[in-house]
Amino acid sequence: MSDLRININQALERIDSRQRTAQPWNDMHTEASESMSFQRGMARGMESMLSEASQVFILTDENVAPFWLPEVAYWLHCDSATDIVIKAGEQYKNLQTVQRIWKTLMKHHADRNALLINLGGGVITDLGGFAASTYKRGIKFINVPTTLLAMVDAAIGGKTGIDFGGAKNQLGTFAEAEEVRIKPVFLTTLPERELRSGLAEMLKYGFIADSKLLEINLENYQDFILRCDEIKREIVKQDPTEKGLRKILNFGHTIGHIIESHCLTTDYPLLHGETVALGICAALWISVQQCGLDEKVLQTFENQLPMLLSEAEIRLSDADIESILTYLVHDKKNKGDKPQFVLLEAVGKPVWDVDVKPEIVKQSLLYIINKVSRQ
Ligand SMILES: NC(=O)c1ccc[n+]([C@@H]2O[C@H](COP(=O)([O-])OP(=O)(O)OC[C@H]3O[C@@H](n4cnc5c(N)ncnc54)[C@H](O)[C@@H]3O)[C@@H](O)[C@H]2O)c1
Ligand SMILES: [Zn+2]
Repeated sequence: MSDLRININQALERIDSRQRTAQPWNDMHTEASESMSFQRGMARGMESMLSEASQVFILTDENVAPFWLPEVAYWLHCDSATDIVIKAGEQYKNLQTVQRIWKTLMKHHADRNALLINLGGGVITDLGGFAASTYKRGIKFINVPTTLLAMVDAAIGGKTGIDFGGAKNQLGTFAEAEEVRIKPVFLTTLPERELRSGLAEMLKYGFIADSKLLEINLENYQDFILRCDEIKREIVKQDPTEKGLRKILNFGHTIGHIIESHCLTTDYPLLHGETVALGICAALWISVQQCGLDEKVLQTFENQLPMLLSEAEIRLSDADIESILTYLVHDKKNKGDKPQFVLLEAVGKPVWDVDVKPEIVKQSLLYIINKVSRQ
């Protein structure tokens, strides 16, 4: 982790002039199509938040930093911010990294009026939100998502967290960013595999809330970012702490997370969105068996799977099923030992807290593993 003061002039020198938009941060949301901003409570504006903060820290990762850290420092019009650059990847979304963030904040004597800007994908917004919400019982943070997945999901809705004990998101808080600033220009440097991963999460909204989103593809996805955010914010508003309705946002995630946890222990980890794609397929299959979902919905999604998974190296076989199933006990939606699923009666008609027999869960895994190993 580097930990250096950014001087704006140095930052500007590091910016490739081709990339620089030469727009101050405050102008970034003048055009809805170029940038969107969601604020918590009364809109106070980024500028006043920055000027009120005793210190500003920017958390980002090693992949995002070279492209966007100087740019964002420039946009911020903030002549000194401390950057915290961590290694990229889900395997660093852990307690050790959080400790390093806390230690950096302490080393710089960050007080409760410090502000943390989380610049990155879902790993950064989850980690940064967690570190900020626990440091001195909570400092303010702003999310600036740079992946599609974080723009439509991870950065919004106030769930923060880290992986622990070998399982996903076991420690976390509900804490809302003061502001979420969405700027699609960040996607120009995102690898295409990551874009595809974000598309899976966008399709999730299609299944649970708006069938129009099922038309999303690599060409048109930017038109739908705002719609996904609207759906997520509306659901979160109705059920901020996931007592009921909010559970539908986990559609595809029960099986998705256990595959993700299993694959993290192998040499072929899959991206979050890729495992969500597999999880959606399993949830649709179970929904056909158990909730009367029209089989055509499953078949249509299966036609999209190759597009979502084209760059994923999937090395799953029937022999992995027992290992994958061991992660089911950690699912936070479980009632006791019983896994609870979000399923569909029809597109736009999700049901949650559904018991699924272990045998059916196993069969759904067999189904998707056979499906992807034939692709
Ligand atoms: N809190 C929530 O509600 C919520 C919701 C969904 C997902 N999540 C979490 O989000 C995480 C996945 O997020 P993700 O897919 O954004 O992963 P990520 O943060 O690991 O980012 C993916 C990769 O893209 C790189 N990257 C990011 N932005 C880039 C850019 N603009 N240009 C070039 N490279 C860039 C990153 O360095 C990383 O290597 C998971 O940990 C998941 O659990 C949280
Ligand atoms: Zn997700």
